[in-house]
Amino acid sequence: MEEEFEDIEELISAAETVEREAQNTYEATKDKKRFPATHILVEEHNIIKEVLDILEKGCEILKSEELKGDFFLKAADFFRNYADKYHHSKEEDVLFDVLMKKGAQHLLDIIEALKKDHVIGRDYVSKIQEFGVRYRSGENVVSELIHNSKGYISLLREHIIKEDEGLFPEMDRVFTEKEQKDLVRWFEEVELSGDGSSKYLNLVKELKNIVKSN
Ligand SMILES: [Fe+2]
Ligand SMILES: [Fe+2]
Repeated sequence: MEEEFEDIEELISAAETVEREAQNTYEATKDKKRFPATHILVEEHNIIKEVLDILEKGCEILKSEELKGDFFLKAADFFRNYADKYHHSKEEDVLFDVLMKKGAQHLLDIIEALKKDHVIGRDYVSKIQEFGVRYRSGENVVSELIHNSKGYISLLREHIIKEDEGLFPEMDRVFTEKEQKDLVRWFEEVELSGDGSSKYLNLVKELKNIVKSN
């Protein structure tokens, strides 16, 4: 009988552990009130993922027909200014530093890997820009555009998964609600160095229309 009780207690404790872990997943980061800073980053990821899907569609079209409207130059503009300057600067100039100052040494390896991804991503975007200019002037650089776009798409998709599922649940464990609010204030300061304004959200619509009308 006593053994049975022990089993039940074990079961309850296992169920509680599962519930606690579920609360610490990516889904929990969508709780805007408790995790306002994580919420901002996750929302920005959703916009970036949408443009990665559009870029992928653009590459599919380019295999068989011409893609008009400076599609690749506009995509490079979005990734350089919104994904990198506006979004990655919140991570590099604020979040990673604050996590290190909080003594989250166990996150050092993942942060180093994420920083490296940002650097590699910048290189891909420069190439998309460079070949986008050459494409516009009539050069046949289709395979170069597809190669660099696909490299960037898979890098950034993987990168976002690492953050959404690896770093952000940790961030939610480490920071209190008050500290999350402080992060939001600091994010607003670095936002001034990028442009997340309606200009870039309109650019998303424009890119979507180019692939739709092609
Ligand atoms: Fe990042
Ligand atoms: Fe990110």
